[in-house]
Amino acid sequence: MRMYDLIRKKRDGGALTAEEIRWFIGGYTKGEIPDYQVSALMMAIFYQKMTPEETLELTLAMRDSGDVLDLSRISGIKVDKHSTGGVGDKTSLALTPMVAACGVPIAKMSGRGLGHTGGTIDKLESFPGFRTSLTERQFTDNVNTIGIAIMGQTADLAPADKKLYALRDVTATVDNMSLIASSIMSKKLAAGADAIVLDVKTGSGAFMKEEADSVALAEEMLSIGRLAGKRMAAVVSDMDQPLGNAVGNAIEVREAIDTLGGRGPKDFTELCMTLGSLMLILGGRAQDDAQAREMLSEAVSSGRALEKLAQFVHAQGGDERAVYDPELLTLAPLQIEIPSPADGYVAHIDCDEIGICSLILGGGRETKESEIDLSVGLLLKKKTGDAVKRGESLATIYAADPDRAEQAKERFLKAYHFAGSMPEPKALIRRVYGI
Ligand code: URA
Repeated sequence: MRMYDLIRKKRDGGALTAEEIRWFIGGYTKGEIPDYQVSALMMAIFYQKMTPEETLELTLAMRDSGDVLDLSRISGIKVDKHSTGGVGDKTSLALTPMVAACGVPIAKMSGRGLGHTGGTIDKLESFPGFRTSLTERQFTDNVNTIGIAIMGQTADLAPADKKLYALRDVTATVDNMSLIASSIMSKKLAAGADAIVLDVKTGSGAFMKEEADSVALAEEMLSIGRLAGKRMAAVVSDMDQPLGNAVGNAIEVREAIDTLGGRGPKDFTELCMTLGSLMLILGGRAQDDAQAREMLSEAVSSGRALEKLAQFVHAQGGDERAVYDPELLTLAPLQIEIPSPADGYVAHIDCDEIGICSLILGGGRETKESEIDLSVGLLLKKKTGDAVKRGESLATIYAADPDRAEQAKERFLKAYHFAGSMPEPKALIRRVYGI
């Protein structure tokens, strides 16, 4: 086989065979096919697109380019969850202990954040001492004993995707639906769960800004997962404003703890209930949404969900006292209020700009190598649709550096838009795809 022939075939609108896809993914992972030829193929795919069969084959080839986790030592139906990422998205932190407290084993690999959306692994490191790298043995033992373990993604998980994603990032070939769906699903399939719930975000703070694109991505990933033999469900949810009120790392962990204690923001709590319900149904613990919600509510009101978080933090070396005393999760010393410049209603928030404020404060990574400050962030006091008076606080900034705080404040004020009347509310949950 010759790479030249594959590029020409795709350039001219042909469909690659399973054999051809496996060959180029294998060759590229081993370093036998140069970046310039794979770049040309990615651009040809970008313009000519891929059929559903090609997309599935690409996903499976990337899944098989490294380790595929064997979770068979863990009893029960293992249900994973994936979010396409957004501002203030701390869902896994509250959702996974809730679901684990209802008896669905959580064996999850999570990533670090890049850019303005934070990663679960970074946030968990806000617990002093928390370890995100575990051996496979520790990982499975923890799930078997306490029902939950979350670790950082290993280098051996879908290495072809790692290489290809980095190449797409610098060759303007990221935003192709088949390439995005296969990239995400190759990692999810390699992580070994029996069932997967997807949370595909939509809006100004999401990867996909248009709802139609988010819907198409959700449907493409559902189809790949089902064809690969997994039980699948998905939600398309709003990211036109930050999720909950906290944006940062330690501050988001505090909000997740509040939510596990039944005192969380309404939108964030509702998203956890919706995703949690799908996870309990896929995991065979609940028959339907009503039963699942009752189980999740009981796990929260009885304190078992919070206790599950404490067990999980303790099992991975973290200081679980912070679960019951969140003040132990350090926030930055400089606290600055942002007064509203107008009377009226918050009409719209440029959501990704709020993520960038957190990045400016030091809470996100500009490059993969950047160190992040877990203590900085923002706490929103007003969100879309809220009435506000001139001078009233829109948010509190937690900063370590006054110059950065000033820059973040300036940017924040440009991201908030006001109107004289209440805007039309947008639904948090746009679509639910059950089994
Ligand atoms: N996230 C991924 O993991 N891959 C993509 O291609 C886009 C977003």
